[in-house]
Amino acid sequence: GANKRRHSSESEPEEEPSSSEEEEEQKAAPEEPSGSAVSAAAQPQGAEGEAGADPARPKAPLPPAVPSTALCQPAVFIPVDRSAEVQEARLKLPILAEEQVVMEAINENPIVIICGETGSGKTTQVPQFLYEAGYASSSGAIGITEPRRVAAVSMSQRVAKEMNLSHRVVSYQIRYEGNVTDETQIKFMTDGVLLKEIQKDFLLSKYKVIIIDEAHERSMYTDILIGLLSRIVPLRHKKGLPLKLIIMSATLRVEDFTDNTRLFSVKPPVIQVDARQFPVTVHFNKKTPLDDYSGECFRKVCKIHRMLPAGGILVFLTGQAEVHSLCRRLRKAFPYQKNNTCSAVQSAVCTPLNVVLSPLLFPQTLPKIDLSSYSVVPVDEGDEDRDGDSDADAAGSDLDLDLGDGDSEEDEKSDSSLPLFVLPLYSLLAPEKQAKVFQAPPAGTRLCVVATNVAETSLTIPGIKYVVDCGKVKKRFYDRITGVSSFRVTWISQASANQRAGRAGRTEPGHCYRLYSSAVFMDFEKFSAPEITKRPVEDLILQMKALNIEKVSWEGLCAAAAFKVVALRSQKQTERLKQQLAAKLSCPISPLGRVMATFPVAPRYAKMLALSRQQDCLPYSITIVSAMTVRELFEEFDRPAVSEAEAAQLKGKRARFLQMQKVWAGQGPMQKLGDLMVMLGAVGACEYSGCTREFCEENGLRYKAMLEIRHLRGQLTTAVNSVCTDAGLYVDPKMQPPTEAQVTCLRQIVLAGLGDHLARRVQAEELLDDKWKNAYKTALLEDPVFIHPSSVLFKELPEFVVYQEIVETTKLYMKGVSAVEPEWIPALLPPYCHFGKPLENPPPSYCPQRGRVRCHRPSVFYRVGWQLPAVEVD
Ligand code: CDP
Ligand code: MG
Repeated sequence: GANKRRHSSESEPEEEPSSSEEEEEQKAAPEEPSGSAVSAAAQPQGAEGEAGADPARPKAPLPPAVPSTALCQPAVFIPVDRSAEVQEARLKLPILAEEQVVMEAINENPIVIICGETGSGKTTQVPQFLYEAGYASSSGAIGITEPRRVAAVSMSQRVAKEMNLSHRVVSYQIRYEGNVTDETQIKFMTDGVLLKEIQKDFLLSKYKVIIIDEAHERSMYTDILIGLLSRIVPLRHKKGLPLKLIIMSATLRVEDFTDNTRLFSVKPPVIQVDARQFPVTVHFNKKTPLDDYSGECFRKVCKIHRMLPAGGILVFLTGQAEVHSLCRRLRKAFPYQKNNTCSAVQSAVCTPLNVVLSPLLFPQTLPKIDLSSYSVVPVDEGDEDRDGDSDADAAGSDLDLDLGDGDSEEDEKSDSSLPLFVLPLYSLLAPEKQAKVFQAPPAGTRLCVVATNVAETSLTIPGIKYVVDCGKVKKRFYDRITGVSSFRVTWISQASANQRAGRAGRTEPGHCYRLYSSAVFMDFEKFSAPEITKRPVEDLILQMKALNIEKVSWEGLCAAAAFKVVALRSQKQTERLKQQLAAKLSCPISPLGRVMATFPVAPRYAKMLALSRQQDCLPYSITIVSAMTVRELFEEFDRPAVSEAEAAQLKGKRARFLQMQKVWAGQGPMQKLGDLMVMLGAVGACEYSGCTREFCEENGLRYKAMLEIRHLRGQLTTAVNSVCTDAGLYVDPKMQPPTEAQVTCLRQIVLAGLGDHLARRVQAEELLDDKWKNAYKTALLEDPVFIHPSSVLFKELPEFVVYQEIVETTKLYMKGVSAVEPEWIPALLPPYCHFGKPLENPPPSYCPQRGRVRCHRPSVFYRVGWQLPAVEVD
């Protein structure tokens, strides 16, 4: 049962020449009555709304092909050449049965909401319906937004393949990359990308249709987009260039959208796609929740595999590290071998010492073995795949090689003859590895996917019959008051738990094993709160301002987004954040703020870039910003050592690394730039040596991170060039080390950008108690924070520092620390200072009563070594 379906949706043959006549007929007959197709075509051109429907809709099928005149006339039906396998797989998707209903609703209404269980085919099929009905052309594309980058990339690939169209036509755009061309007609993108586009062109005139996918996730950008689009759609209508808006959601909480009269004056129609869900039996654990849920998952999977009939297993864990660790345990317990001749290689690969071997290092005598087909080959899913986005998956240290996990795995060793085909799935997994879960497992094996939350709604895995749900999720938490964020593992919501359970019933009746008791389940919140109620507002405000939305008060934003919940945010907090980022102080947006908003990075970093047009600092700040965005440049410096031997090894790596860096930067003035210097030095030295994998491995750098940084530097250079047309930067990965003047300038730029992340060491005489020893006081937190042991400034303890971020482990630690000269603070961060009368001229000092730096009005400092750049606005 389970496997049959998987085979059908697998459809490997790349370019099946053309589907047969019958299939074309078969497709056209039930789904494309000419009435609806014609109104589909007429609709985008002319009047919208009530007038569109043709009451007497003829039921005759359309001719399968259209003459080439279709391009200039209102399109009727754009044929798509799908392979037989694709055709067959499509017909099994519930949304196919609703194509006519969906298209009629879209033809007749400017805004439509489509609700359907995950896996019903919304994301992959609705864009195709629209394409076939002639909604896409070179002058107006179909845009689809996804909250996750993986979804944007993998769905564009999937749809291109299904439609037999090239990636020039069905393309994707995520923050730093994409394959969009002039020919693009279907464009998948992240919600952030569309928001940026609205900034440049408020009416989104490039698009005929916008689909907001996964709206139930309530990601912040999705919420804002819906708010903005609720205004853009009527505006486009007025201009006679109607835009269709389609909101797609799993069946959660659509009332938030439909019943919100501030959002849509006319209630949009909601189309329910029948999910054809099979019953899922839910089994709760009797015991109260366990701390070792990962171990419990392992035991549960073992039991299912031994005792229950065929069918795939899907395990939900919280993060990438856990996913890998469980995958390893399972592979050890139920090894899968393609055939016996390879067992020697396999056992070699499986010994812990070989875990980090790359395929390049395999002995030449074994060249023929296709390592990618071994589920046991750890190099296949190295942790290095993280690409450093601030995704929840990326949280936590996950370089665990799981060497000494001397658990009771021996006892668990399989008595089942069936091997387990174990695959990891998380959002930063490389797309080609992710795609594996959609393929049928090798014959004679059982599929077991160990996943994070991505498998909850974004991606549907075929053939799953058993779900093991740990009940937890890793989420970024924003402290309401300070904006400090940390990743925490918490209980999921009831809605999420039910979604996860639902994954078991896609192809046949299934079972969901919840590793928590029903009493605990009853205590879960019903839904998790929309992100917009939790995120720091600073970037939001800046974005809104750049959109020329006047008076960006939090209330203004509420009105724009029209979600009741957002009113939870305090005005006071907003005001404070506004003060803290000097670029936002003036309303309307300052030229600096406008420039900032055009950069595809967070405001703090954008401010650094915008201020770097002096002393030729731009290439360096671009590098620093890229490095800060990518994060985790170093392989294992930041990891607490497991053993003493390992500690020594880490130390050795670190020493070698610092040595290597000096070769590039000399002993020079870069020291005070602190950890940011280390980042700059790492990139500088690496590029200087040609950025090879060997160099990176030798010096403990993450090769992938280095490549990503190079890529980002190119992207940001292009972005800067397009803002400052005379900057004339060119991309050269190699750099000279900065001069002393440049380092000073860079440090000031970093201070200006990360200003609200200023911290001051608590002096001996101010010590309240021991917990403040060597501690810093930040502008945002009451509690003591410390310089992270991995920082180069850990021992130096400068009086003032700025940090990139605070992470909470045993203590609150600052990471990405750089030293600040006290006299810069009044010049660059006046809101943090209070100014005394200029009687004498003492250096600035800290005023504990006021909690601020005390100094004179700093006319002398203002322009010393610091000037605002000549920013150009296009
Ligand atoms: O968006 P929705 O959750 O409604 O469904 P979808 O993402 O369009 O997926 C429809 C079907 O396509 C599912 O059964 C997926 O397993 C399958 N699919 C696939 O086989 N390979 C992909 N790369 C993407 C989807
Ligand atoms: Mg979807």
